[in-house]
Amino acid sequence: MQGRPAKTVRSALRPPLSLAPRARLRHNPRAHGTCHAPHPAIDPRSKLGDSHLTEFQPRVFSGVQPTGNLHLGNYLGAIARFVPLQDEMPAIYCVVDLHAITVKHDPALLAGTTREVTAAYLAAGIDPKKAIIFNQSQVREHAELAWIFNCIARIGWLSRMTQFKEKAGKNRENASVGLFAYPTLMAADILAYRATHVPVGDDQKQHLELTRDIAQKFNNDFADQIKELGLGIPNPTPSPELPDELFFPLTEPMIAGPATRIMSLRDGTKKMSKSDPSDLSRINLRDSAEEIAKKIRKAKTDPEPLPSEMDGLAERPEAANLVGIYAALSGKSKDAVLSEFAGQPFSIFKPALADLAVDKLAPMTGEMNRLLADPGHIDAVLRDGAGRASEIAGPVLRDARRIMGFLEGR
Ligand code: TYM
Repeated sequence: MQGRPAKTVRSALRPPLSLAPRARLRHNPRAHGTCHAPHPAIDPRSKLGDSHLTEFQPRVFSGVQPTGNLHLGNYLGAIARFVPLQDEMPAIYCVVDLHAITVKHDPALLAGTTREVTAAYLAAGIDPKKAIIFNQSQVREHAELAWIFNCIARIGWLSRMTQFKEKAGKNRENASVGLFAYPTLMAADILAYRATHVPVGDDQKQHLELTRDIAQKFNNDFADQIKELGLGIPNPTPSPELPDELFFPLTEPMIAGPATRIMSLRDGTKKMSKSDPSDLSRINLRDSAEEIAKKIRKAKTDPEPLPSEMDGLAERPEAANLVGIYAALSGKSKDAVLSEFAGQPFSIFKPALADLAVDKLAPMTGEMNRLLADPGHIDAVLRDGAGRASEIAGPVLRDARRIMGFLEGR
């Protein structure tokens, strides 16, 4: 069940502001275009699957890695934002376990961390009857499309990914090829469903720009086949950079709200992250009320009281972070939070923030723990979701294979 029938939107193809024209031209996906003759044996309109649309249907896709230590940044920047979207359009939320093996992992822990992300999705309010929830490795199309995209993306594009540089660190020669190619798998995750909208935190912006570049180059390189096979969708925003028919949409990143980049509680210039060695740097979604209160109490701040205007936070990253967290948890704007606490010292603001965080997070933590006590139920949700996800990705991949010219034996 994918919820109610989708309306089609043309805005799904509006170029987002985040993709500067220069960035697109730099890659110039058209420059790598190849001219493939249509395969005479292929009947263009045979076996049209779900992937044959007249317009791209709006569809949300997003994912979270099961690498342990799910934290407040994952919740506010992503998971909490997934919930209302399930009522706006068909939504697919994935536990991206194939991504989790790009760095050293412990196979004995992977099932547990996969269930933990699933439990967070459910406890946050994602309804598995409305949205599809599944783990990536159960749907083979992700890995298959990623391989095709490995042959579309350029080494230069991937070499520019800041997250690869950060994660690989100084010893880049020793990083896995999977870590380097990770963004092509992420593009495959999204485009296997021809998803039009992707809610993520700020740190994923560059990967989403790359996803658009890959879609654009695929659409350009194989424009003749797409047309010949009758698999194109009219391009609603014609431009010299794109053919008039597309197979993959240019996905819209959704990076908005007060919590797109939650920072470490120990250093307001560093992102809150699963891998920070200091547990005091983050609020984990399974922390107890006492741990949450303690971490907020110990959060780094400065001696000044809170200002009345946002300008007053410009040089105060730790204070700005705590105000952003308060705003996101309370559903208020940062301005509204500042007018409430203007002139107050942290000895007043921190306990108020701790109370709010415990109020919001404790019920979710309790629900996650309850769900995790019944792994069979979680596994059934993932199995059901994987079946429904395959029904969408299967026809897209079958058409992508035909576009690539692979001989179909069965
Ligand atoms: P991951 O698992 O690192 O993070 C999951 C989501 O949480 C967001 N996030 C944050 N938001 C605000 N503040 C923070 N400090 C913070 N830390 C993390 C991330 O932006 C993300 O939205 N590559 C992705 C997973 C992925 C994916 C996809 C996402 C794989 N395929 C397809 C969208 C679509 C990742 O590693 O997220």
